[in-house]
Amino acid sequence: MATKNFKILGIDTSCDDTCAALLEVNNRQVKILSNVVSSQVKLHQKYGGVYPFLAKREHQKNLSLVFRKAAKDVFDIDLIGVTSGPGLEPCLWQGINFAQNLSEKFEIPIVPVNHVEAHILANFIDGFPKSIKSIKFPVVCLVVSGGHTGLILMKDIGKYKLIGETRDDAAGECFDKVARILDLSYPGGPAIAAAAAKLQITNYKLQITLPRPMINQKNYDFSFSGLKTAVLYNYRTQPEKIRKSKKYVRAMCSETQQAVIDVLIRKTLKAARDYKVKSIILGGGVAANEELRKQFKKKAEVFVPSKVFCTDNAAMVALTAFFHRSDNFKSIKAESNLRI
Ligand code: KG4
Ligand code: ZN
Repeated sequence: MATKNFKILGIDTSCDDTCAALLEVNNRQVKILSNVVSSQVKLHQKYGGVYPFLAKREHQKNLSLVFRKAAKDVFDIDLIGVTSGPGLEPCLWQGINFAQNLSEKFEIPIVPVNHVEAHILANFIDGFPKSIKSIKFPVVCLVVSGGHTGLILMKDIGKYKLIGETRDDAAGECFDKVARILDLSYPGGPAIAAAAAKLQITNYKLQITLPRPMINQKNYDFSFSGLKTAVLYNYRTQPEKIRKSKKYVRAMCSETQQAVIDVLIRKTLKAARDYKVKSIILGGGVAANEELRKQFKKKAEVFVPSKVFCTDNAAMVALTAFFHRSDNFKSIKAESNLRI
């Protein structure tokens, strides 16, 4: 039997990256024809965080260029997937309006995509469809990014139950805020990872110990805002000369990163045991963290997308649209707090 080929355009403008990707998907393979991510890092660097109004304006400016880079021939596209939430509402609308215009003008079917589900399904991109067979259900998914930190029980593709989430800041948000305190660049995650990697444990006298919030609690929730506050208090008590030193910054980065990793691993493994899952998968920007990947793999078999599919991208959105191509929905609207 011939396998039907789908050329799928994915669009994501949920935060500060303008993303478009073109995938060719059939039952036998996923081919990434393009995966364009236009980052607004330079713009937001000045502020140490994302400003929704500025981000929206950038999406507006960049979308058609990013789309043209991703898709050469619009008449080739069989399906469009666009992120409808969660995310920054003004930003989400930019992607939705752009995608809907294309859909109407060229009569291409369109489906709304949940960004968190896309971070999960990013695990199926590499090695598809073998990846689908090696990941056994039920699965526990840890989604960790700048906007989300949650544990999701997945019974099948499309069947999810949120079992725990952060009560305040997301793990990536904590990295971004700590980086700001320490005068490091935005986004904070990669900057903290790089500084932590430079720490030489030998001949280092400044011992810093940060809390591991909620690590021993019996639930699957997280809390990272206290960790950031602990960093701030420690920073403020240090003399100027110490807190501006490379040694201090590196030690603080290393301890912050380790505190986040300890909590994420402990809670995920607890959920995996309690729910008797057969696989563990990670997703989201923080899952690109080398130490997290390394330490997780020492403790359990975990699936994690290659790094380009951890941070925001539209390839994961296109693949999610493939799985939902037959879904019924009334209209597409931006839902900043969309749940899984
Ligand atoms: O998934 P993502 O690109 O966007 C959201 O959906 O939020 O995640 C961005 C977050 C940022 O907070 C960033 O600091 C963090 O992921 N991040 C990292 C790394 N790369 C990105 N955190 C730790 N280590 C990294 N290598
Ligand atoms: Zn994301």
